[in-house]
Amino acid sequence: MGREKITVIGAGNVGGTTAQRLVESGRYDVVLLDVVDGVPQGKALDLLQAGALAGSGGHIEGTVDYTATAGSALVVITSGMPRKPGMTREQLLEINAKIIRDVVTQVAANSPNAILLVVTNPLDVMTYVAYKVSKFPRERVLGMAGVLDSARFRTFIAAELMVPVKDVQAMVLGGHGDSMVPLIRHTTVAGKPLHECLPQDRIDALVKRTQDGGAEIVALLKTGSAFYAPSASAVEMVEAIMQDSKKILPCAALCKGEYGVNGLFVGVPVKLGRRGVEEVVQLALTADEQAALVKSAAVVKEHCDLVDKMI
Ligand SMILES: NC(=O)c1ccc[n+]([C@@H]2O[C@H](COP(=O)([O-])OP(=O)(O)OC[C@H]3O[C@@H](n4cnc5c(N)ncnc54)[C@H](O)[C@@H]3O)[C@@H](O)[C@H]2O)c1
Repeated sequence: MGREKITVIGAGNVGGTTAQRLVESGRYDVVLLDVVDGVPQGKALDLLQAGALAGSGGHIEGTVDYTATAGSALVVITSGMPRKPGMTREQLLEINAKIIRDVVTQVAANSPNAILLVVTNPLDVMTYVAYKVSKFPRERVLGMAGVLDSARFRTFIAAELMVPVKDVQAMVLGGHGDSMVPLIRHTTVAGKPLHECLPQDRIDALVKRTQDGGAEIVALLKTGSAFYAPSASAVEMVEAIMQDSKKILPCAALCKGEYGVNGLFVGVPVKLGRRGVEEVVQLALTADEQAALVKSAAVVKEHCDLVDKMI
């Protein structure tokens, strides 16, 4: 059997870096698609030539034509517009919802059995749009945010305590953005609960920095937003799915009553395998955590109601 095909839609910063990580693994045939003719072809050719040095033997094709994506096992969707000065959140929501609608229509027609992994912001709402437009089962539509938020939180904890980041375990649930819900009781440093390692005011400061993690990088870069950690997070999910690892990662998944949320995509712990979302894992939450998750879902619902009228 040949290598399975993975398509990355959007050849910008996140899409290009995701494609690079995937092709360098040597495990997949990668297709990179963008609406701007020349960009995906140029980046793919550059990556193919890098392969002569990396030696992974992976293949990549750049295209503006969806027929090249046909039969993809998994499609990572990063296409979208960044928020421009003067643009309201609602305007951005409408622009990106229409991009996701058009992209997913073509992806679903060419790869009816694919798993869709959405990265475009606002994440939870765009994943909902992908689900609605594709009409795929809930197992095959999910979004990336919690893996990135958890990686950021772990990074800040490791730096504060001066320990290796691999010794820090953390899980951030809820919507992507200000309403994310870091599970402090489930956060450990080499097995020791975080609240035994740090005073509450330091934990609060690290949580705040995690919530503002994207904005901190935007402020430094001036143009554009983070893409190294976001692409690494997307690839962590791709590998968990494609390698059928059954890893439990925080993902935006459709909740059907789990955590008191119904009919919405929010960040919850998910067992990932070759079928996609194999289980929404139920963790025992405190009353505060549960309330924060429901509040976070209410924000997502408001935006989903808005896009329902736009697409
Ligand atoms: N979920 C997360 O945690 C997370 C993290 C980082 C970035 N993001 C989001 O990912 C998205 C991509 O970020 P980026 O930094 O790569 O942006 P970027 O501007 O570098 O790239 C976006 C690409 O999408 C392409 N595009 C636009 N419309 C398209 C269409 N209809 N079909 C195909 N391609 C199209 C553009 O030409 C561009 O190349 C943004 O929405 C960003 O907010 C999400």
